[in-house]
Amino acid sequence: MSTFAFAPEAISTSTSEAVAREARAGLTATPKTLSPWLFYDEAGSHFFEEITELPEYYPTRTERSIFAAHADEILRQAALGQGPAGKLTLIELGAGTATKTGILLAAAVRQQGSVVYQPVDVSETALAEATENILKNIPGVTVRCQVTDYTREALPLNRLPNTRTLALYIGSSIGNFTPAGSCEVLRNLRAQLLPGDTLLLGTDLVPGKHKTEATLLAAYDDAAGTTAAFNLNVLTRLNRDLGADFDTEKFRHKVLWNPAESRIEMHLESLAAQRVHVPENSSGPALTINFATGETIHTENSYKFTPAAVEALLTSASFKLTRSWQDPKNLFAVTLATAL
Ligand code: AVI
Repeated sequence: MSTFAFAPEAISTSTSEAVAREARAGLTATPKTLSPWLFYDEAGSHFFEEITELPEYYPTRTERSIFAAHADEILRQAALGQGPAGKLTLIELGAGTATKTGILLAAAVRQQGSVVYQPVDVSETALAEATENILKNIPGVTVRCQVTDYTREALPLNRLPNTRTLALYIGSSIGNFTPAGSCEVLRNLRAQLLPGDTLLLGTDLVPGKHKTEATLLAAYDDAAGTTAAFNLNVLTRLNRDLGADFDTEKFRHKVLWNPAESRIEMHLESLAAQRVHVPENSSGPALTINFATGETIHTENSYKFTPAAVEALLTSASFKLTRSWQDPKNLFAVTLATAL
């Protein structure tokens, strides 16, 4: 953990080692996999920002619309039980550029006059952008950034006297973990909170009356090809960071809905029988990876939830569901839960 002013070098060294380790483990496994955090180098983070604005990618704008409709209520509910002098401090896991968070921060300022906001992310540049935007647009917010990988390190929770914490884990980021992984993330978060602190969790929902499987598939396979570029960029990253020789023209973006697991899966499918080389590096000797035609690298799961599954997940991590909000088409849910 570090504040971003101090240790960017240490972060980049440990990141490149982690890239090498993940790539070696995933590409030598059967079936082949790559962890989704590998998407988020500079180009990948850019592609992701573009994805959030695509007409097919409904989660971001839907969650934003829920915040726009209910931010005051969400903040009021989270503050229930606070003493008159007490305030909420907001911490956000995987904040990125925090574009939607402004709606909640503005509501917190309306409610309590000022607010301390602690965004946590692995990307120093995303946090710098978030800070600049928030300070420019929402007077009353004090921003304390932390560059930390919350999935691997303890959360840097700076508790101020007389405050309760509202932890934000929005954007359906929880959906990119396996069920066991998502439970672990929430348990780790819960371990940093005190009883009565709250969590606001954003989750994408399973297909329903207004959401067909086609809607879901299109959100991950858009007409402009942005999600395909995002997916294929992971190979470009491995070429750059590890000196691998993936030919990105010989792979294609593939998306499927897995109803048994309630998840969208993204894969990179090999278009030919081919060999890829990764030179020796800190994580081990040189590798030759064989691909058969049609073989895939599984690059991401994006789990979709029922309201009952959200509640079960929260319960398993010692939270109690307080209240949930959905958009009128039941595409997405935002759930407030209290730490037990
Ligand atoms: C970051 N995460 C919640 C996105 C999702 O929808 O699972 C990542 C993404 N992958 C493809 N498009 C968006």
